[in-house]
Amino acid sequence: MRILFTGGAGKAGKHVVPYLLAKGHRVLNVDKLPLDVPGVDNRIADITDPGHMHDVMQSYANFDELQAGTGVPAFDAVVHFAAVPRILVTGDNECYRTNVMGTYNVIDAALKAGIRKVIFASSETAYGICFWDGEKKPDYLPIDEDHPTVPMDSYAMSKVVNEATARSFHARSGADIYGLRINNVIEPHEYRQHFPAYIADPKLRLRNIFAYIDARDLGEMVECCLNTDGLGFEVFNVSNDDHSVAATTDQLLRDFYDGVPLNKDMAADETFYSNDKAKRLVGFRPKHHWRMYLDDTSRA
Ligand SMILES: NC(=O)c1ccc[n+]([C@@H]2O[C@H](COP(=O)([O-])OP(=O)(O)OC[C@H]3O[C@@H](n4cnc5c(N)ncnc54)[C@H](O)[C@@H]3O)[C@@H](O)[C@H]2O)c1
Repeated sequence: MRILFTGGAGKAGKHVVPYLLAKGHRVLNVDKLPLDVPGVDNRIADITDPGHMHDVMQSYANFDELQAGTGVPAFDAVVHFAAVPRILVTGDNECYRTNVMGTYNVIDAALKAGIRKVIFASSETAYGICFWDGEKKPDYLPIDEDHPTVPMDSYAMSKVVNEATARSFHARSGADIYGLRINNVIEPHEYRQHFPAYIADPKLRLRNIFAYIDARDLGEMVECCLNTDGLGFEVFNVSNDDHSVAATTDQLLRDFYDGVPLNKDMAADETFYSNDKAKRLVGFRPKHHWRMYLDDTSRA
């Protein structure tokens, strides 16, 4: 497919874009910064500028596309990751403005250019727990996509609003628009860098509901969404199958979730951030587990 990817130069994008290239797609990265990876085309543009977004949606990816002499080729799909990726980076209102207006502009321009598939980055933070003032316990575990999304911070608010925006764009257009409620993204080098500390002190992962998503498995989830048509508007939790700590599900329930109801029987290391819907509807099968990347010395 010919794919327009926003935010490809960022932490997640710099793994997901090469993953999509390896699957045989052509990718134009639209970002304030270029992604310096062989085979990626880049366009510098700002998602908060509607003119930029209308322009890029109907643009050559690179000079080679002039050769056919048949005009600008159409994009098959847009993957929208560009954002202010958490609170406390910019002012709260700037985070909200960038993410909300940026997502409106990207989806609006994509649909007006005739693109019928948009996959966008939402966030686990939509459930409110991650950036709550104090501790917020889930209403139930594991958290699935039906769990209420009532956050109190500007970043998560922007993601909840983006999901509402996307749902309404689907209502108007009938296009497939899939939102990914991505958990904490882990790059390959971060297993050795961070996980020994998580194993020693699981509480470090409480705000992420102990879950994580390998950056390459996030690429696989995007690939699954590209390959699955006809779902309309959907949101998906995106996580790996296990916890990001060594403690078992039973231990974590005992230590951190006293009184929180369970809505299913859970396996010993099963994530509290349910990826069942992604498995069921788009065939997501995460391949990576932190235990594959830590040797005995790095666990000490
Ligand atoms: N990293 C995580 O753990 C995580 C978890 C859940 C959701 N997400 C979401 O996934 C997406 C990617 O996250 P990330 O960690 O790669 O973030 P990142 O900050 O590393 O990358 C974001 C990219 O967007 C670009 N960008 C920002 N504002 C822009 C603008 N106005 N116009 C054009 N480009 C702009 C940046 O230059 C950057 O390359 C974001 O939407 C984020 O909210 C990330």
